[in-house]
Amino acid sequence: MPIDFYSKLVKASEAYTFRDFVLLPGRSEVEPDKVDLSVRLTKSIKLNLPFISSPMDTVTESEMAIALARQGGLGIIHRNMSIEEQVENAKKVKRAESFVIRDVFTIGPHDKISDALELMNKHSISGLPVVESDHLVGILTRRDVNFADRTEEVRAVMTSDVVVAQPDVSIEDAKRIMHKHRVEKLPVVGNDKKLLGLITIKDVYSRERFPFAARDSQGRLLVGAAVSPFDLDRAKTIEKYVDLLVSDVAHFHNSNVLEAAKKLVKETSVDFVAGNLGTLEGTRDTIEALDGRLSAIRAGVGSGSICVTSEVTKAGAPTLFAVTQIALGLQEAGMESIPIIADGGIRSAGDAALALAAGASAVMMGNVFAGCTESPGGLIKVGGKYYKPYRGMGSDASRQKRFAMDRYNQPSKGIAEGVEGVVPYRGDVQVVVEEFASGLKASFGYAGASSIKELWLKARFGTVSAAGSEELRPHSIILPGEEKI
Ligand code: IMP
Repeated sequence: MPIDFYSKLVKASEAYTFRDFVLLPGRSEVEPDKVDLSVRLTKSIKLNLPFISSPMDTVTESEMAIALARQGGLGIIHRNMSIEEQVENAKKVKRAESFVIRDVFTIGPHDKISDALELMNKHSISGLPVVESDHLVGILTRRDVNFADRTEEVRAVMTSDVVVAQPDVSIEDAKRIMHKHRVEKLPVVGNDKKLLGLITIKDVYSRERFPFAARDSQGRLLVGAAVSPFDLDRAKTIEKYVDLLVSDVAHFHNSNVLEAAKKLVKETSVDFVAGNLGTLEGTRDTIEALDGRLSAIRAGVGSGSICVTSEVTKAGAPTLFAVTQIALGLQEAGMESIPIIADGGIRSAGDAALALAAGASAVMMGNVFAGCTESPGGLIKVGGKYYKPYRGMGSDASRQKRFAMDRYNQPSKGIAEGVEGVVPYRGDVQVVVEEFASGLKASFGYAGASSIKELWLKARFGTVSAAGSEELRPHSIILPGEEKI
């Protein structure tokens, strides 16, 4: 049978992108401030906001993950670092706040004050429970050691009569005890004063300051880690410190990748996000390979702002198209409850709204978050304006760091698939998230939807012609900074 090349061309799928569509205004009884933006990110993880930061070395390390989770979103720690560094980043997020800190730094009564100070400085903490064979014998705070002789033993300056809490203490009780005794640290002890954890005033405040934060059952911030499906060692180590593992390969629909991912999910137990995928067939094969261990899918191939994959290889599945393809595949398998994360090309709240309306539950952004204070890398000043560095994980610079190699640089790939540059500085994550959340709520309002489920049901799309896309942004006006008459 001859291959019908012509039909392949004329029957090609329309691989639509964000720029091709608008959300049509629908009849609405919904005021934006009444919109609930909470979503399910996996079967077990719920977020108050649908924003995820990309696992990229100019976007997400612990600082970004902490800031974003406090606002209600989630950060995925990149993997262009050693396993130990990735674990360290995840631990920082988990330690950033929790109602009861379980993995408490402690000191012994016979240790030197200089050792206690070193520990406090290294981990930026202001007090240490003093323990002997796991049992609480005192507490040491910065005030005790500030002017003490550093060669002395801890027991000489510690407070031995410690105010403690029982393991089942509630947050309200903890507050009451702390106030009554005017203490800022409350060790949690079990039988025989065995130290089980620590409650600090900072964590109690923080819980009240960030009521929308994404938290686990122990009140710690949620965090994810990127892994290559081939890196079983990393997955098995990092899974103990994070809430989900996120596959970080450009082309998940590859037999070797699917095989590796199949093994990975068998040997780990935390939620696993597959990706990136962009087609119906890819979704079908992924569902089959992962056999019930699929928690969510990362959708979009080649549409990232730093991506030259499609330019170089002409291969790609733009994010909006990818989302709908994956939604089809999941529906076909009766698995529509598996969330889709739209990844790549999202520049505004409007793009995010389109992605959600097309069936996604959350959006992953690299470019937008790279411009925030909390992304790695300092500010760069050019011509009076501030920028931050941003680069693709397949860019030459990233690939020079060995750990990024397997995403875009299998031995057979000698070509860079990402670029390196700068993005405008946008301010703190909090400001950017608020801006995106307000924009998204306004879009929901136009669509007449008060929740993501209603948006999926009610949203209608309009296609935009090239002429139309001109008209849909400010036109026929000279804007400040563009005065070239
Ligand atoms: P952005 O928000 O449009 O910049 O897209 C970010 C997304 O681009 C990431 O979440 C990755 O899926 C993808 N990505 C990251 N690095 C590269 C690269 O070097 N080439 C292609 N895609 C990339």
